[in-house]
Amino acid sequence: MKKTTVWLAAILLVLAGSHGAFSSEKESVESLRGAVPIEAESVQPHAMEQNTDKDTIKRSFPLNPPMIPHAIDDYEITMSNNPCLSCHEDPASGAKVISESHHLDRDAKRHEGSAARRYFCTQCHAPQAKVDPLLENRYKP
Ligand code: HEC
Ligand code: HEC
Repeated sequence: MKKTTVWLAAILLVLAGSHGAFSSEKESVESLRGAVPIEAESVQPHAMEQNTDKDTIKRSFPLNPPMIPHAIDDYEITMSNNPCLSCHEDPASGAKVISESHHLDRDAKRHEGSAARRYFCTQCHAPQAKVDPLLENRYKP
């Protein structure tokens, strides 16, 4: 029984192929990565050059997560390593240490290092690049 089903499926596949069902689909459907064949590697999108100045950026409103005034493309945050904390947890580095809120978990329990919910810094803090804004910012705090 099982064998017959496999054979039937194989025959159907061959038939569908010979009628061009697959080839016409391939032409009309375009995925998000564009019309790049599956076997080919897509081209990496252009990345903006991040600002490298060290001056802090003025906050737009109180408790606004400050923007990152330096480039971060060399830092990769993983489960076991957070390169941001090598500076932002060490007062001797000259960088501001993470604020008290970053040590507290959702039950307000204090952790020695960053609490898990603050571990992936780039969830809230973004680097900056010099680009023409797509839309004018009319936000008023
Ligand atoms: C080599 C040291 C170093 C590393 C690594 C580093 N920073 Fe910084 N960072 C600095 C210094 C110096 C400043 C400027 C002084 C300050 O505001 O802390 C700064 C500023 C900032 C600020 C602005 C603080 C404010 O109050 O305006 C944020 C946010 C920040 N960094 C986030 C990050 C994140 C996120 C990472 C990792 C992706 C990172 N930094 C990695 C040194 C570092
Ligand atoms: C869930 C959002 C969130 C995440 C994740 C987060 N931050 Fe923040 N961060 C904030 C907010 C909001 C502020 C400003 C209010 C405050 O200090 O709590 C801030 C403030 C800061 C400051 C300025 C502190 C000061 O004294 O002025 C630094 C530096 C910073 N964050 C670094 C980091 C680093 C490094 C990480 C990753 C380990 C990180 N943050 C993860 C939201 C976040």
